[in-house]
Amino acid sequence: MIWLVGNKGMLGTELTHLFEVNKMHYVGTDREVSILDLEAMRTFTKDKDISWIVNCAAYTAVDKAEDEVELCRALNAQGPENLGTLAREIGARVLHISTDYVFSGTPFLEKGTPRPYREDDQTGPTGVYGKTKQEGERLLMAAALNSIIIRTAWLYGKHGNNFVYTMLRLMKEREAIGVVADQRGSPTWAYDLASAILHLINLPKEKLSPGIYHYTNEGETTWYDFAREIYRLGREQGLLERDCVVNPLTTDQYSTKARRPAYSVLSKEKIKALGVTVPHWQDSLARFMYQLAKA
Ligand SMILES: NC(=O)c1ccc[n+]([C@@H]2O[C@H](COP(=O)([O-])OP(=O)(O)OC[C@H]3O[C@@H](n4cnc5c(N)ncnc54)[C@H](OP(=O)(O)O)[C@@H]3O)[C@@H](O)[C@H]2O)c1
Repeated sequence: MIWLVGNKGMLGTELTHLFEVNKMHYVGTDREVSILDLEAMRTFTKDKDISWIVNCAAYTAVDKAEDEVELCRALNAQGPENLGTLAREIGARVLHISTDYVFSGTPFLEKGTPRPYREDDQTGPTGVYGKTKQEGERLLMAAALNSIIIRTAWLYGKHGNNFVYTMLRLMKEREAIGVVADQRGSPTWAYDLASAILHLINLPKEKLSPGIYHYTNEGETTWYDFAREIYRLGREQGLLERDCVVNPLTTDQYSTKARRPAYSVLSKEKIKALGVTVPHWQDSLARFMYQLAKA
C-alpha cells in the first residue's frame, strides 16, 4: 500500500487524482497525521502494510520562511527525517519532493553557456526555504538510504495558489503588470510531475536506484515569458476578456524577502533514462489552461 503524505496540497491533490484513476491501493493524509509527530505516524501505519511513503508535505511559503525559520526547518528537514526513520522501521521506501532552490542560481558553464543543473552538482541554497529543503534531503538519505528524492521547480496546478492563477487574476484586474524577466527556469505542471512519480513507484524495485532525480517540464523560460504565454493562451481560450500589457522587470525592481535563483534549469537526463516522459512546458501549460477554460 502507498501512503500519500500531504494529500491536500497542490501536488498531493494531483497524485490523489491519479491514484484514484489508476485504482492504486493507497491511503492519504495531511495535517491530521503530522510529519512532526513520529509517534502519531507509527500509530497510523501500525495496522497497514505500507511499501511506499510518498511525501508531498512541506513548508512552501518561500518568503515567510525567512521569518519562520524554526517551523520551516521542522517541516522541511525534521519531517523527512521522521519519514525516513519510520520507513526503515516498517520496511517501506520513501519518495520525497525537493526543489531547485537547493542550488545557488549561479549556473555552471559549458563552452561559455549555462548548462542545466545535474543531480550531483554542488548545491548552495541562499534562503531559509532552500537551506531547510537541502537539510531534509540529507537527513532523509541518512535515515533511509534507499529513498528517492525528486527535485522540481516552478510548480503550478489546479489546486492551490500558484503563478498561473496569480497572473490570470492580475491580468483581469489591471491594464498592465510587471513580471521578472531575468530569472530562468522551467514551469512544471503538477499533473506531469504526479505522472512521473506514478511511473517511478510502478517500476520494478531493482530498476529504481536510490538517490536524487530531477523533474521539471522540458524547455526553459523566464517568469516574464511564462506570463506572456499565460496571457496569450488566456485570451485565446476566453479566460481573459480584456487587454493587459505585460512589462519586463529586473529582479532588483521586484524585491522579495527571499532571493530567488537567477538560473534554476534542471537536467532531466537521469529520470528520462527510466522511461519517464517529460512534456514541453508550453504544451503542458496549453493543456492545463484548456482544462481551466472547459471547467
Ligand atoms: N510549489 C512549488 O513551486 C514547488 C517548487 C519546487 C518544489 N516544490 C516542492 O514540492 C512539494 C509539494 O509542493 P506543493 O506546492 O504541492 O505544497 P503545498 O501545496 O504547500 O502542500 C503541502 C501540504 O503539506 C501540508 N502540511 C503542512 N504541515 C504538515 C504537517 N505537519 N504534516 C503533514 N502535512 C502538513 C500542508 O497543509 P497546509 O496547507 O494546511 O499548511 C499542505 O496540504 C514540496 O516538497 C515543495 O517543497 C514545490
